[in-house]
Amino acid sequence: MNEQPTRADRFSFGLWTVGWRAADPFGEATRPALDPVEAVHRLAELGAYGVTFHDDDLIPFGADDTERDRHIARFTRALADTGLVVPMATTNLFTHPVFRDGGLTSNDRSVRRYALRKVMRNMDLAAELGAQTYVLWGGREGSETDAAKDVAAALDRYREGIDTLAQYSIDQGYGLKLALEPKPNEPRGDIFLPTIGHALGFISTLRHHEIVGLNPEVGHEQMAGLNFVHGVGQALWQGKLFHLDLNGQKGPRYDQDLIFGHGDLLSAFFLVDLLENGGYEGPRHFDYKPLRTEDSDGVWASAAANMRSYLLLRERARAFRADPEVRDALAASRVPELSVPTLSPGETPADLRADTSAFEDFDPDKAAERGYGFVRLSQLAVEHAIGAR
Ligand code: GCO
Ligand code: MN
Ligand code: MN
Repeated sequence: MNEQPTRADRFSFGLWTVGWRAADPFGEATRPALDPVEAVHRLAELGAYGVTFHDDDLIPFGADDTERDRHIARFTRALADTGLVVPMATTNLFTHPVFRDGGLTSNDRSVRRYALRKVMRNMDLAAELGAQTYVLWGGREGSETDAAKDVAAALDRYREGIDTLAQYSIDQGYGLKLALEPKPNEPRGDIFLPTIGHALGFISTLRHHEIVGLNPEVGHEQMAGLNFVHGVGQALWQGKLFHLDLNGQKGPRYDQDLIFGHGDLLSAFFLVDLLENGGYEGPRHFDYKPLRTEDSDGVWASAAANMRSYLLLRERARAFRADPEVRDALAASRVPELSVPTLSPGETPADLRADTSAFEDFDPDKAAERGYGFVRLSQLAVEHAIGAR
């Protein structure tokens, strides 16, 4: 495949991804700091269309107004020079020690008020730069001990916080939609809204639930042993897939943030197939960490690798869908039949109750005889995914 990424593919990267200096809990940084202006230029050259950031990625924490304006001006110029856009922005509510017990759910009320103001300030900038989505990852919203948190109170405060921010977006006319990013643990022992399902349940209780959706991340669901494709499928089904974080993960362990496709490859194949055919039109956003082993050449190679993995999988998914044998196998497996409503048009529960063909005359032993042919279908998918067909 010689296809190169283009703007039309809508690939975007967080400044914190290519800019990760690779300090971990056991070792120092292995790479120098990356100037956001350089990141913008390099990403544009590689074919990305967008860049995203936490407030502190762009403007060092504690910068005064003059310094802040200077950072924003340089960044804005780089965007204008390259044509890169900012589809999403987010807030760092996890690095500074003030957030040791979280931001929106800290037990300390003054920290909660400060956190809300920090988010609002960066929402102002996000709107100014034309972003459509504002992500909220609750990295430190959680606990290590159940003695420390009243969960109901924490969720009340979480809801109050998100309701306040949604109201702010509406009042200011920003048109920013909020996207919550679930994660089960790390850095906290347990994080609130740990999975897509928890977050969807929470969103349904919000005052402005229509402008709040999800930013699910591949690795975060997989850390919890969950099927990311099913999670994204449900988020799409509920109209809540506002944005997403693509990366790789090898099962339940620490958050690896590998290159997209470098974790569970088959799941990545089915994910691309779903995104391309399931009605998702947002950015294909990468939230990964270039391996700590790499120098700066390796950083840019890894950025390119994310996009290439996606394009290759997209090409594989198209081939899978276009293969007449696959169509035949799908029909034999009765996959299309699942789209036929179980009740007939206008049929009531009483009608079903009266339908003897559904029960009294139905032969379950006979119906149980037939296999579903999923093995053939699955093997065809594997063969397409690895390029054997
Ligand atoms: C992580 C998270 C973060 C968030 C980012 C945007 O595991 O560290 O995925 O990278 O996506 O903070 O909110
Ligand atoms: Mn992650
Ligand atoms: Mn993420």
